[in-house]
Parts: sequence; structure tokens; C-alpha cells
Amino acid sequence: MNEKIEQLKARFNEQLAAAEDSGAVEKLRVAFLGKKGEITDLLKGLKDVSGPEKKEMGQEINRLKSYADEALTQKAAEIKEKELAARVEAAESYDITLPSAVEEGSYHPITLVQREVEQIFASMGFTIEDYSEIVDDYHCFEALNIPKHHPARDMQDTYYLDNGQLLKTHTSAAQNAIMRKYGAPLRAIFPGRCFRNESTDACHENTFFQMEGIMIDKNISISNLIYFMKTMLSEVFKQDVKVRLRPGFFPFVEPGFELDISCLICGGEGCPTCKNSGWLELCPCGMIHPNVLRDGGIDSNEYTGFAFGLGLTRLAMMKYGIKDIRDLNSGSLKTLAQFKY
Ligand code: PHE
Repeated sequence: MNEKIEQLKARFNEQLAAAEDSGAVEKLRVAFLGKKGEITDLLKGLKDVSGPEKKEMGQEINRLKSYADEALTQKAAEIKEKELAARVEAAESYDITLPSAVEEGSYHPITLVQREVEQIFASMGFTIEDYSEIVDDYHCFEALNIPKHHPARDMQDTYYLDNGQLLKTHTSAAQNAIMRKYGAPLRAIFPGRCFRNESTDACHENTFFQMEGIMIDKNISISNLIYFMKTMLSEVFKQDVKVRLRPGFFPFVEPGFELDISCLICGGEGCPTCKNSGWLELCPCGMIHPNVLRDGGIDSNEYTGFAFGLGLTRLAMMKYGIKDIRDLNSGSLKTLAQFKY
């Protein structure tokens, strides 16, 4: 072999053996095979050689070229594998004292309020029940003393499924099943997602949360209802909350009420939030209608009870000062991450 070529190959081998990382291998590729690389130069120099020697040298240089190319590719692959193994090892031996790049999550404001209310009622002996979001007409309306074609249905238009079932419009849809499950006496709360076919604005959503509560026993009266609501609201708002009842119509309670609380922003003086009335509407409620007790398998001569339908979404908005209801379903982390536990 031509001495010059032989020396070049030896130098190439030496330098390749010394290369320790991908960068060094790449440099060698440029130095030997690049546009101005040494092997490329040799090939270019062929034009000054003549006779049979030219052909032989040409073949030798080309052999060296493919040899160098293959050797570089192989070395690069070996190094890449080693580098990867080193990275994996480094990742396994992590340092727990380093600051974390992972951001802490947070609970949804409705979850926060729901848990708080659940805890308060649980401490007063109420069980917490779950119920499906898809229900049938009987549970959502008929078992609640709202027969077909009753005008009260107009207030609660919802989404119907092809099989005749519907998305529940209120948590009251669970009353019948829970009465049948436990019988009387009974204290239960049941939070849930509700749906109504509404056009949305800052105060209305087609999807919202309620927390229903029922208490059934001998001699239950409106004063029991007022006591439980007042206790719960004072704990949620961490201050003494005044409540008042106004008449309200719901076919499944008799008498029925709207429960208002004294405005927490102005303390009852009157402000834009309470439309200058000093009161905020929070929770429809009433004494359970005898027909509803009867359909739930409970003797209405022996037992009475109250029911309320607390607007959890409303409560969360008041507690955290959220002005637009749509923020709650927006999935915007920027909004929701402000409510840390
Ligand atoms: N279910 C009623 C609604 O969502 C509220 C309610 C519940 C009223 C319990 C009275 C008693 O409109």
C-alpha cells in the first residue's frame, strides 16, 4: 500500500480510538472525510498522478474512505449507547434536595366547598350519598309530586337521551331512591352534578352542582330546618349568618321556602351584590310533601321531614368571590389554581 495512505490510516485509527464523545467523533469525520478533509484531499490530489499508479491509488483511497466512514459510524453508535446508559443511571440516582419543577395541583373550588359542607353535615349525623347523573322521568319528576304535563316541569328543561332517560335537573331526583334504601328515620345529604337546558351567561350554566339534604323523623319541623341551615352556613362562612325564609313553590315540599342569607359583602346594609336588599337567595327548601314520603315508602302520618337543595355552585361563588359562573367549568388552570387547599 502506498506509504502515505498507510500513514493516514494509522493516524485515523489512533485518533478514532482516542475519541470519547459524539462531538469528538463528528470532528474526526470532518477532519478526514469533510470537504477539506485529509482523505478528500488525497482523492483530489489524484489528478496530479498519472499512469497505472493512478488507478491503484484511486482504489486504495476509496477503500480507506469507506473504511473510515464505517468505523466512524460504528464508533458514533457505541458512544451514543454509552451516553444513554450514563443518562439513565444519573436519572436513577436523583437528589431529593433539589427544587422540584413539578407544580402543585389544587382542588376545584366546588370540590372544596362540597367537602366542607359534607364535613359539617357528617358531624351532625348525616350520611353522604352518591347518585347517578342519568335518571328516569319517574325519579326526576313523578316521584317528586310533579306529574306529566305539570307546569313546574317548564322550569327544568333538560337533555333527554334516546332511551327516554334524562340528565338530572336537580339532586332531588335521588330523594325517592334514598328514602327507599334507608327508610325512616333518616338524615342524608347527596351532592351531585345537575343539568338544565339553559342559555349561559355570568349567572347561568347548563351544568352546575347542588347539595340536597333530607331529614326525616318524628316531629321534624321548620325550626329544625332553620337550625341546620344556620349552623352549616355560619361554619362555611366563618361568621354568624342571619337567615330568613320567604314562601317558594316546589311541588315536592309543603310548605316551600326560599332561604335567604344576610348579604356577606355589606353585612345587610344593601349593596350592588344583593341588589340593595341586604339579602342573598341561597337555598330553596321546605317540608317534604306527604305524597313524596308515601312514594318513598315512608308513613307520612308517623313521620315528617325537611328537604333543601343547596346551590353548591352558588355557594362556591359567594365564598370565593367568583363573579362569572362560566369560569368554574372553563377548565382554566389560571383561574382554578388560585384555590389552594
Ligand atoms: N330541587 C329544587 C331545585 O333545584 C330545590 C329544592 C330542593 C326545593 C329541596 C325544595 C326542597 O329547584
